[in-house]
Amino acid sequence: MAFPTERPRRLRDHPVLREMVAETRLGVMDLVMPLFVRDGGGQRRPIASMPGQWQHTLDTLADAARETAEAGVPAVLLFGIPDAKDAVATSGTDPDGIIPRAVRAVKAAVADLVVITDVCLCEYTDHGHCGVPVERGGRTVIDNDRTLELLARMAVAHAAAGADVVAPSDMMDGRVGAIRRALDAESFEHVPILSYAAKYASSFYGPFREAAESPPAFGDRRGYQMDMRNADEALREVRLDLEEGADIVMVKPALPYLDVVHRVKAAFGVPVAAYQVSGEYAMVKAAAREGWLDEPSAVVETLTAIRRAGADVVVTYFALEAARLLNGQKKRA
Ligand code: PBG
Repeated sequence: MAFPTERPRRLRDHPVLREMVAETRLGVMDLVMPLFVRDGGGQRRPIASMPGQWQHTLDTLADAARETAEAGVPAVLLFGIPDAKDAVATSGTDPDGIIPRAVRAVKAAVADLVVITDVCLCEYTDHGHCGVPVERGGRTVIDNDRTLELLARMAVAHAAAGADVVAPSDMMDGRVGAIRRALDAESFEHVPILSYAAKYASSFYGPFREAAESPPAFGDRRGYQMDMRNADEALREVRLDLEEGADIVMVKPALPYLDVVHRVKAAFGVPVAAYQVSGEYAMVKAAAREGWLDEPSAVVETLTAIRRAGADVVVTYFALEAARLLNGQKKRA
């Protein structure tokens, strides 16, 4: 069959028919909103490189969580910015640290919001790395196995405060298994792990490092985050995390790695998340601010593309904005 018998445009001209045959749905239920919370009171602080995003205090965090839930977004992902940082992330494993207190504040403010916590050392270390540094052969490297114990303790502290899901983002080998064992030993066997399974060393994390005050003080993260040139390796990373007990696997960043999202979904058929990271957000915001892109349609297009690639869950700083757009569309229809 070819033209003039076959005419793909037949299904495009009528707007309702076009809706009916759409292969991909983007729904509010697919979204997760990341939120930053800092120690200390006072005003929330705007994040310059991420217009519309804030470093919250515990008070404004509760308000932001309520606003997010009211828009229908089912989940938030919390990142902590502690007052005190040291070489071994002591403030990150404190059962009364910033994230445990934030989880309790959000839970007290909004009952049915899924609270996911970022589990990683970099927000809590004075050197900004996601693990414990050691000298080896004249170089400073990150000690994998010493880091595992700290990550496990952090995950337990978050679960004990009431986190619904823990999300390790450090890329140490074996951390999903270490966290799973520690959670189970403390009777948190019901708490799922969303692992950042294929997290690439990426220039698109730039604005986040300002937001979380966590740029590495020396070197970079290429000793533990994935090389952007590798996709087969992403499948190995995902397989290992699943074998160790990951419940949802995440690919990050999203848009430059849609091929990886697609391959992971096709190969494993498990729940897949994708993280539209700070730099992806900042790009759209900056271009929209200049009048070079229409922000609402760019937001919906990027999020739909991530869903089309195979992501079930999309973590995005646009979650609240997208939810409002999608809710508005529903009313009009
Ligand atoms: C690190 C972490 C990072 C992000 C989430 N968790 C930054 C990094 O690895 O440098 C990036 C998120 C974003 O850019 O939006 N624990």
